[in-house]
Amino acid sequence: MTDRSCQAIILAAGEGSRMKSDRPKVLHEIAGRAMLSHVLAAATMAGANRSDVVVGPNMDAVADLVRSQLPDAQIFVQTERLGTGHAVLAAKDVLSDPADDVLVLYGDTPLVTDASLKMLRDGLADGAAIAVLGFRTTMPGGYGRLITDSDGNLAAIREDKDATGPERSINFCNSGVMAFAGKTLLQLLEKIGNNNANNEYYLTDSVEIACQMKFKVIAVEGHQEEVLGVNSRAQLAEAEAIAQNNLRQSALANGVTMVAPETVFLAHDTELAPDVLIEPNVVFGTGVKIAQGATIRAFSHIEGANIAEGAVIGPFARLRPGTKLGKNTKVGNFVEIKNTELGEGAKANHLAYLGDAHIGSAANIGAGTITCNYDGYNKHRTEIGDGAFIGTNSSLVAPVNIGDGAYIGSGSVITRDVSADALAVARGKQIMREGWAKTMRQRHDKNKPKST
Ligand code: UD1
Ligand code: CA
Repeated sequence: MTDRSCQAIILAAGEGSRMKSDRPKVLHEIAGRAMLSHVLAAATMAGANRSDVVVGPNMDAVADLVRSQLPDAQIFVQTERLGTGHAVLAAKDVLSDPADDVLVLYGDTPLVTDASLKMLRDGLADGAAIAVLGFRTTMPGGYGRLITDSDGNLAAIREDKDATGPERSINFCNSGVMAFAGKTLLQLLEKIGNNNANNEYYLTDSVEIACQMKFKVIAVEGHQEEVLGVNSRAQLAEAEAIAQNNLRQSALANGVTMVAPETVFLAHDTELAPDVLIEPNVVFGTGVKIAQGATIRAFSHIEGANIAEGAVIGPFARLRPGTKLGKNTKVGNFVEIKNTELGEGAKANHLAYLGDAHIGSAANIGAGTITCNYDGYNKHRTEIGDGAFIGTNSSLVAPVNIGDGAYIGSGSVITRDVSADALAVARGKQIMREGWAKTMRQRHDKNKPKST
């Protein structure tokens, strides 16, 4: 790999009106992460040590997202949307002393890979002034066409609206992803005019300008799937499907077993160790990490959870953020866990809500146990000691501590701390009256009117 410096400019000024959304387009998510964040991550992985973003007016939410991911990034506002060339010039301040390589990416093209960006950078390292990521398609309508000369160098990019008939039949298209040698970029940008069908400053015109100046320009071929641009909800769903397929394939390649991979939904950051087994219909939100040999049974929903070796989850379990499950823990059907740690070997096998709690190792949480963590205003903690046994259908009214080895009788409503190894029973006492039911029935039967 090259030791040249690299920066990225991400274009995100488009409103995305076809999304029919209040949210700026690039904040819509793929695999649990904003499209723009995917692009920023790809640029970083390709070696960019700074990325700056061009947004439209009133896109503070986009700026906030960028700064949360890359605190040093600059946000440039393109007040009038006069074309991709004009948009890059909005970031002129960070191009006056440019890196060796400048990647120009679109915020709405979320699947671009660092591998392709590296190929473009290799082209620059070989002396190109511009390297363009192209793709072949049977439906080139709407895209800029890549016009190559007899040596295979790129001679021009012709926008669809400006193309001649024969040019329109070219099926090698511009993905929009372009890499520029930093030292010549500004001079090319400043030569771009707007004498075209759209009266826009086309970034793509830089190719012809560079060729006239005898610079070398190349096109590198990528996959069509990788350069899918998202302009509508349908394309968002299409990009999601591609991303999911990629995530599943890489999990499988890393040694994860998935019985029906097409029914498992992953997040961009899902970490699955080898020999994790995932049954059908499991959904992962962000922030999940699962260690070797854990089993996730069917229909579980998991987000923000850390699961240790050998744990068995589900079927039908819901793990919410802040869940930490120790080795060999068991969480069974219809158990919801939030902001709670389960020690090694602890079990909550059926129908429970465990929130804001710490559960000791080898503790047994009976069916129907509820940690009553919320009083309508604040959340309170429940501590359950190692080896404690919580009888079925118990309510633990937090804040409350259950000591190590303590035993809670079924159906209890526990409002006070229970000491280690103690028994606590807090429920109505059972009374019994011999023969009462029979007497009651006889009394009623005697008074019943005779049926005719
Ligand atoms: C552009 C390319 C075309 C390519 C296609 C790939 C140009 C002139 N054309 O066309 O060759 O095949 O992408 O999808 O570059 N943007 C701004 N400010 C602007 C204009 C655009 O930030 O003033 C951003 C948009 O938000 C979008 C991207 O740049 O993310 C591309 O703009 P768009 O209008 O979609 O370009 P296309 O006409 O699709
Ligand atoms: Ca587009």
